[in-house]
Amino acid sequence: MNPRPILVLGSSGQVGYELLRALAPLAPVAATDRASLDLTDSEALRARVRALRPAAIVNAAAYTAVDQAEAEPAQVAAINGVAPGVLAEAAAEVGAALVHYSTDYVFDGRGERPYREDDATAPLGVYGRSKLAGEQAALERHDAVIVLRTAWVYATRGKNFLLTMQRLARERDELRVVADQWGAPTSARFIAASTASILAQTRLSSAYIAAHRGIYHLAAAGSVHWCDFARAILAATPGAEHVRVAAITTAEYPTPAIRPHYSVLDTTRVATTFGLYMPPWHELLELALRDQAGSARA
Ligand SMILES: NC(=O)c1ccc[n+]([C@@H]2O[C@H](COP(=O)([O-])OP(=O)(O)OC[C@H]3O[C@@H](n4cnc5c(N)ncnc54)[C@H](OP(=O)(O)O)[C@@H]3O)[C@@H](O)[C@H]2O)c1
Repeated sequence: MNPRPILVLGSSGQVGYELLRALAPLAPVAATDRASLDLTDSEALRARVRALRPAAIVNAAAYTAVDQAEAEPAQVAAINGVAPGVLAEAAAEVGAALVHYSTDYVFDGRGERPYREDDATAPLGVYGRSKLAGEQAALERHDAVIVLRTAWVYATRGKNFLLTMQRLARERDELRVVADQWGAPTSARFIAASTASILAQTRLSSAYIAAHRGIYHLAAAGSVHWCDFARAILAATPGAEHVRVAAITTAEYPTPAIRPHYSVLDTTRVATTFGLYMPPWHELLELALRDQAGSARA
């Protein structure tokens, strides 16, 4: 008999794409993207879960355009705030576990040490508020829910800071990047591999997930500001080594959404509960760039 599948939402996104490969050894993976399953269509979400009866649902779909979110609060709330609750309810109905992702932007960034899961949240913008609402909705509606809050996600595909810096470096000799926002850049591949490792340990049992339910911080170790992250990217990008990266302040680069000044996450809980190792952010970057170089050669 085939094992019950894992339903992945957002399979065309950074994390979702990596999940397809990472989860493959665990169970058949049913991949959906926005075209095949829209998070704003609650009836479609319920119907898909009922029809598929997955062992687990991994929701990597989200409205992630932090600045654009300020202009579309209702749409953002529907995707990030409401849909996770609908998914959780549907998961409960068929006895599936739910893994959902959230963000360091639930914090206001005034902290001075890495944020722990139970630190007070105070999102600064529409995106952060919607993600906080989504965490709460998912956890309220089902026992077998794990929320992985991650941060500063990048990959060698999709829309992200790594690829933006590399593109700008091809167009300019000098970039200006903010040096007063601190975080931990985390690769989508690492997030997907960690998710798979967690699910493997649970043997896709929703009772096991229920016993370990709650919020976990999952991010690379260490911290850096965007400017030094940009410097590290370009220093290791062939042809971009000469590009100068000037440090500027957030005030010199105003954006529609206010971002936390410091959003480093304390990952002790996920590391100790699931026996995971959080590599330093620069090691994950090195791996991603090695991957990118490999595909460029192919
Ligand atoms: N990116 C970050 O820096 C960051 C930081 C912290 C936490 N996170 C969280 O990590 C998770 C994964 O993020 P990511 O960076 O992999 O995101 P991403 O690359 O932006 O991918 C998000 C995916 O969600 C899909 N999506 C958007 N609206 C949808 C809808 N209405 N119905 C179905 N699918 C929809 C998108 O499809 P389209 O391509 O068709 O729009 C896209 O494939 C999210 O929960 C995010 O909030 C991300």
